[in-house]
Amino acid sequence: MFRSTLSLLALAAGLAATPALAAPVTVTVDAQKPGARIDRHIFGQFAEHLGTGVYGGIWVGKDSPIPNTRGIRNDVVAALKAIKVPDVRWPGGCYADNYHWRDGVGATRNARVNTSWGGVIDSNAFGTDEYMDFLNQIGAEAYVSLNIGSGTVQEAADWMEYMTADQPTALQKERAANGHPAPYKVAFMGIGNESWDCGGLMTPQEYTDEMRRYGRFVNNFNASAPSLKIAVGPGTDDTVWTDAVMKTWKERHGWSFDIQGMSLHSYTVYDGWPPHVPATGFDEKAYTQVLKETLKMGPLIDKQAAVMDHYDPEKKITLVVDEWGAWYASTPGSHPGFLQQQNSQRDAVLAALNINIFARRADRVRMANIAQMINVLQAMILTDGPKMVLTPTYHIFKMYVPFQDATFIPVTYDAGAYVQGDTTLPRLDAIAAKGTDGKIWLSLTNLDPKQPLEVDAAALGFKASAAHGQTLGAPKVDSVNDFDHPDTVTPRAISAKLDKGALKLILPPASVTVVSLEP
Ligand code: AHR
Repeated sequence: MFRSTLSLLALAAGLAATPALAAPVTVTVDAQKPGARIDRHIFGQFAEHLGTGVYGGIWVGKDSPIPNTRGIRNDVVAALKAIKVPDVRWPGGCYADNYHWRDGVGATRNARVNTSWGGVIDSNAFGTDEYMDFLNQIGAEAYVSLNIGSGTVQEAADWMEYMTADQPTALQKERAANGHPAPYKVAFMGIGNESWDCGGLMTPQEYTDEMRRYGRFVNNFNASAPSLKIAVGPGTDDTVWTDAVMKTWKERHGWSFDIQGMSLHSYTVYDGWPPHVPATGFDEKAYTQVLKETLKMGPLIDKQAAVMDHYDPEKKITLVVDEWGAWYASTPGSHPGFLQQQNSQRDAVLAALNINIFARRADRVRMANIAQMINVLQAMILTDGPKMVLTPTYHIFKMYVPFQDATFIPVTYDAGAYVQGDTTLPRLDAIAAKGTDGKIWLSLTNLDPKQPLEVDAAALGFKASAAHGQTLGAPKVDSVNDFDHPDTVTPRAISAKLDKGALKLILPPASVTVVSLEP
C-alpha cells in the first residue's frame, strides 16, 4: 500500500503541484486521418452463472424486498443503462457447457448443481426468458454461448429455434405459451467455450469437427435479425488452435457452414496460475507487475491476428476478446468457487489500457467482453443483499461511452518511461477518436503512480473552441469503493484549459482522463 505524493484534488483543480513537474508531453491528434470504427461491442459484458454474478447480482426474484422489475434488480439495471452495455455474454463461461436450456424455461424449473462453480444449487429461475427481459431492460443485445460440451447439436438448434422462430413452429408456440410470442433477437451465438480446456479438452481437430456441425445446423430462424457465429479461439499465444479454426473456415464451401468471429481469452494474472496475488493492499511492485502483465494483450492479439490475416486478409472474421480482465486471489472469507474480488484504481488503469489496445486494433477486434459484469472477477458492480456499489472499472466504462462507435484517429506522443525496480513501462498511454457527436475524444492514462504528468494536446485539422473532461484518480492505487465508502474512486470534472486551440492538462498519478475537444 503506498500513497501518491500529490493530492488528487489539488491536481484536478489545477493547483501548483509538488514536486515540480517535468516538461509537458506534447500529444498530437491527427483528425485528418480517420481510421477504423471502434465498435461499441468492444465494451461488451459477461454474466455467468457463477457465484453471485447472476443470482443476487441481477436476479433477486419477484417477491424480493429489493426493488425489482419482474425479478431483476432495478438499481443494477439503472447503473448498466448508464454505461450503454452493448451486449451480455451468457450463461458462461465453463458453465455454458453444462447448461441445458430446457431447465430454465416454463412454469417448472429444474434445479441443478452448478458443477462448474462451487457445487451450489442453481434454481434455473433465471433462464432464457429472464435473460432476454434483462437485456431489454438495460438495452443490450444477446450473446448466447451454446453447450457443445455436454449438449447435442439438436439441443442447441432447438434453443435457437425457441428464441428466434417467427413462424408457428412447436418451439415458437412454446415460447408464446411462456408469454413471449414475438421472436427474440440473438445478435451473437458462441459455438462452445474454451473447448481446449473446461469445454471438453478437445484437440484442434476435434473442435473444428464440432464447429462445422454446430456452425451448419444451429441457426437463427429470424431472417430479419441474424446471428453472428463466434468460434472458440485460443487462450494463449500458441497459434496452433487459431490456425486450425481459420484454415477450416477458409476451406468451407457452398452450403457447409460459416462463422463471423473467433474468440480470444486472456486474463491478467500476475505471478503464475492459480491467481493468488491480492486485489487490494498491494505495493508498488505489484501495481507495476500487474500492468506489465496486462500490456501483453497487445502483442498477444497481434500474434493471433497475423494468423487470421493469412487466411482472412479482408478481416471478415472478428477477433472477439470475450474474456479479459484481472484475476486475483478471491476476497478472504468468500467462497473460493465464486471468484469474488475487490476492484481498485489499479483495475481502472488496467481497464483503460486494454480498451486502448482493442481500439488501436479496431479493424480486427470488433468485440470484447470483460469478465465479469457483477460480483465476479473484474466487475463493474458489487452487490451484497440490497446494497450496491460501482467499482473504479465501472467508471472507466462510463467515461469511455463516447468512444462507442467512434472513429479511431491517430495520436502521437512520447510515452516516456515509468521505472519501478528493473521494470520500465510507458508513463503515458493515449488514444483518440471522433465521436458520433462530432467531438474529438481523447483518453490519457498516466501509469506513473507517484508523479503527475503535464500534457499539451492539440488536434490537427480540428478547430477546438471548448474542452471538457473528467479524471478518475484515487488517493492510493489500491483505493476501492465499498458499501460504506462508495465514492472514494469517482470521476471528477477537470478544468480543461484551451490556449489557442491547444489543451493543457495535468494528469494525476495513476489516473485516467477522458476529455472532449468541441468544435
Ligand atoms: O470467467 C471465469 C472462467 O474463466 C470462465 O468460466 C471460463 O471460460 C474461464 O476459464
